[in-house]
Amino acid sequence: MKKRVAILISGGGSNMAALIDSMDPDHPARPVLVVSNVPEAKGLLRAAERGVPAAVVDHRRFGRDRAAFETALADVLAEAGTDIICMAGFMRILGAGFVRRWQGRILNIHPSLLPKYRGLDTHARAIAARDTEAGCTVHEVTPDLDAGPILGQARVPVLPGDTPEALAARVLEMEHSLYPAVLRRFATGDTRPILWS
Ligand code: GRF
Repeated sequence: MKKRVAILISGGGSNMAALIDSMDPDHPARPVLVVSNVPEAKGLLRAAERGVPAAVVDHRRFGRDRAAFETALADVLAEAGTDIICMAGFMRILGAGFVRRWQGRILNIHPSLLPKYRGLDTHARAIAARDTEAGCTVHEVTPDLDAGPILGQARVPVLPGDTPEALAARVLEMEHSLYPAVLRRFATGDTRPILWS
């Protein structure tokens, strides 16, 4: 039985598109749902173009009640029979209750070589630190932000004169290869990290 994958987005959804496009007939998983917490997210159109059902769970509707937002999110995920959740540019922090319920079944992609640069502004921080390489990491999501077991990591050079935007574009291109490669392996139950240099 193929694993049923739900993808969480907040924005452009380029990683989501790469994941969906990678799930060919031989793949051990298939996309069953895209969920955005932002109603205007461009990724919703890309999901529709690919014929994948999409839902919006707008966090703003729940004000400060994060638990209610997460219950609504969990409901749509459960209704779709989700086995694996892929966070792909999903800009909300999920609470410990939600994460524990799905632990071992939630992946995230982060645009740095974790454990370096958890959180935001990773590219600017790498440039400010004069790092000579940057990259991206796919990891399991645990209650600690950007700190779960690493499932894949890929490196790119930081070039002289790089702006955060130029570096982000180079890293993003790598994300589009790494995340599908990790998902394909993870969906078979194999959690050995993929390390690309
Ligand atoms: C990616 O760089 C991802 O690593 C970060 O946000 C960006 C999302 O891009 N968390 P997209 O929505 O997948 O195009």
